Amino acid sequence: MKHARKPGFATRAIHAGQEPDPLTGAVSVPIYPTSTYVQQGIGEHKGYEYSRVTNPTRTRLEENLASLEGGVTSRVFGSGMAAINAIASMLKAGDHVVCGNDLYGGTPRLFNNVWVNFGLEFSYIDTTDPRNVERAIRRNTRLVYIETPTNPLMALSDIAAIAAICHKKKLELVVDNTFMSPYFQQPIALGADMVIHSTTKFLNGHSDGLGGVVVCSKPEQAEKLAFLQKAAGAILSPFECWLILRGVKTLAARMQIHDRNGRIVADFLASHKRVKKVFYPGLKDHPQHELAQRQMSGFGSMITFETGSLKNANKMLKAVRICSLGESLGGVETLISHPATMTHAALGEKGRKEIGITDGLVRISVGIEDVDDLLEDLDQALNAI
Ligand SMILES: Cc1ncc(COP(=O)(O)O)c(C=O)c1O
Repeated sequence: MKHARKPGFATRAIHAGQEPDPLTGAVSVPIYPTSTYVQQGIGEHKGYEYSRVTNPTRTRLEENLASLEGGVTSRVFGSGMAAINAIASMLKAGDHVVCGNDLYGGTPRLFNNVWVNFGLEFSYIDTTDPRNVERAIRRNTRLVYIETPTNPLMALSDIAAIAAICHKKKLELVVDNTFMSPYFQQPIALGADMVIHSTTKFLNGHSDGLGGVVVCSKPEQAEKLAFLQKAAGAILSPFECWLILRGVKTLAARMQIHDRNGRIVADFLASHKRVKKVFYPGLKDHPQHELAQRQMSGFGSMITFETGSLKNANKMLKAVRICSLGESLGGVETLISHPATMTHAALGEKGRKEIGITDGLVRISVGIEDVDDLLEDLDQALNAI
């Protein structure tokens, strides 16, 4: 984009990497379903040789997401887990990673069941206090890996404070920004070195395709990740890249409604007689409400609440009509889930207990439906308890 001033977020979501097609003027980025590209002579080509290495639709998406997260470039992968796997494969046997202790369940499953077998070491700590990060750093620590807010307990970590610790110790900070999207939180501007997303969630926004991205703040990270895309091949198909390019055009508009609905649903749940506790950074009684106001420009639409028992959670989840019971989050439709048996089942009972994930917890990803319909649905479902 040619502009004197950097265009705003909503403009970049629609235009960065999404310039009209130079060949035809098409306003929508074309999908290039090609595995290979004709070369004019040995080593003579138009910048594309083979689609595991690069594909024009993917390149456009990578430009767009880098612009939204304020990175130098980004690399997209076949799923959020493939993006996290790529981060781990940037390390070497003997390297140590300090991780938050309340991550999406699939992340410790990957680290503990796959990467420890290749000599990586992981510590899981409460990163809500940055001093714990400093204490956990060892001689062989290379990365600090956090999610903020966490999944599902909605605890926050201070990105700027942790980034300062990392840089003092010459480590890199990686932030999983899936819950907030770049619309509400910009980890690189706060000092993070890399940002990952499951694009499956808010970036795509329509629950119609998986994907993952690593946004880099330095060209050498991007080079290493491009090598990993080429070597290991966990790339995203052109069609799915296009789905994200289409979804991301409405990211700003969707996030505003997600946030508005999220605040209303959180207030409603906090005052409902069947709900014992609500975890939402926008509520004044959230222990890190002040940090949320400082670090995020909205509170989003992820809310977790306590129903008291597995039985209560089950009764409620069976009774919902508009909210859909299912894994995942960040779609236009409201998705409701049970962390203990779904997203965090892999942690086991002991692992969940250690971090406070009870059997009565329910997580809701508030969609962009009419909020009155959501409140009515949640009320009747809670009254089934
Ligand atoms: C915060 C977070 N990070 C990463 C992932 C993994 O992403 P994917 O399901 O696209 O592999 C998820 C999936 O739910 C998630 O919630």
